[in-house]
Amino acid sequence: MAPRMIETNLTAEDVKVEDTLRPQMLDDYIGQQKAKETLKIYIEAAKKRKDSLDHVLLYGPPGLGKTTLAGIIANEMGVNMKVTSGPAIEKPGEMAAILNNLQEGDVLFVDEIHRLNRQVEEVLYPAMEDYAIDIMIGKGTSARSIRLELPKFTLVGATTRAGLLTAPLRDRFGVIHKLEFYTIEELKQIILHSANVLNVEIEDTGAYELARRSRGTPRLANRILKRVRDFAQVKYDGVITKEVADTALDLLGVDKLGLDHVDQNIILTMIDKFDGGPVGLDTLAAATGEDAGTVEDVYEPYLILNGLLNRTPRGRVVTSAAYRHFGRPLPENT
Ligand SMILES: Nc1ncnc2c1ncn2[C@@H]1O[C@H](COP(=O)(O)OP(=O)(O)OP(=O)(O)O)[C@@H](O)[C@H]1O
Ligand SMILES: [Mg+2]
Repeated sequence: MAPRMIETNLTAEDVKVEDTLRPQMLDDYIGQQKAKETLKIYIEAAKKRKDSLDHVLLYGPPGLGKTTLAGIIANEMGVNMKVTSGPAIEKPGEMAAILNNLQEGDVLFVDEIHRLNRQVEEVLYPAMEDYAIDIMIGKGTSARSIRLELPKFTLVGATTRAGLLTAPLRDRFGVIHKLEFYTIEELKQIILHSANVLNVEIEDTGAYELARRSRGTPRLANRILKRVRDFAQVKYDGVITKEVADTALDLLGVDKLGLDHVDQNIILTMIDKFDGGPVGLDTLAAATGEDAGTVEDVYEPYLILNGLLNRTPRGRVVTSAAYRHFGRPLPENT
């Protein structure tokens, strides 16, 4: 399959640049006003009490700034952050060891927390609730469990699939935040800031055009900026104008709404093969050759945001806006 220009998941090309562009403190973190305001209050309160911050769960589509926010929480609290992820921890003992090595107040960031296996997750319950872990010693009838006290720490969990989190785990987070897609204005601000850091000359109208096609996603905004910068340097005099942005993005196969061939394929499949729906998620996934979970958590939210697709109890349906966007005639009965 052709690589996606607008792949929102982290790719190798992003890693280097993301570290330099990643905001370090809450005030530099653009957008997500609600999450920012609440976190600010919780952080200040915790610092005043000289206490650790409550456990925080961040969820939302890839590239919206969950990992970034976790780092900011640690920076604002003035503590260290240990990083791990759901699939990286296979055994309960590994989780116990990580917890046992934390210092007072530390942030433990668990990425893809929905992928923790059940036994590992169970270690977290008492750890999150009572700052303790129960360790089994001995075997068979002589087995007994001893309780090991932990320093007070803050678990920050991130997931793109909040629906897959078990209720007991979810309930142990004091602060739960859904990250939203960014507005074009916010993305423009991020792009202008990144351009400044990367020494890229960009006009306001150019920045707007890039923002409009960035799928509401900062990771994408930064990646698109770099690609278009290269294009501007090779084909033009290096300045990103609206024209340069337009031409480059058309060449990269990203349309005016920021849709690429996968999104287009989803909508056009629905129009051409299912008369616009309703069609079930699994059927749609099979017909487009995508994974159902990915369709639901990564592609759909943006299509819904743009009013191209709706979820109904009977399945997914495309809207008349989708027909218009792709220049298809509306079906007779609508
Ligand atoms: N609010 C923001 N302001 C400025 N830049 C941001 C913001 N949020 C994210 N970014 C930029 O986008 C990049 C991607 O963000 P991040 O890695 O935090 O996303 P994520 O939600 O953790 O994604 P994933 O689900 O793939 O782990 C960051 O490196 C940063 O440069
Ligand atoms: Mg992340």
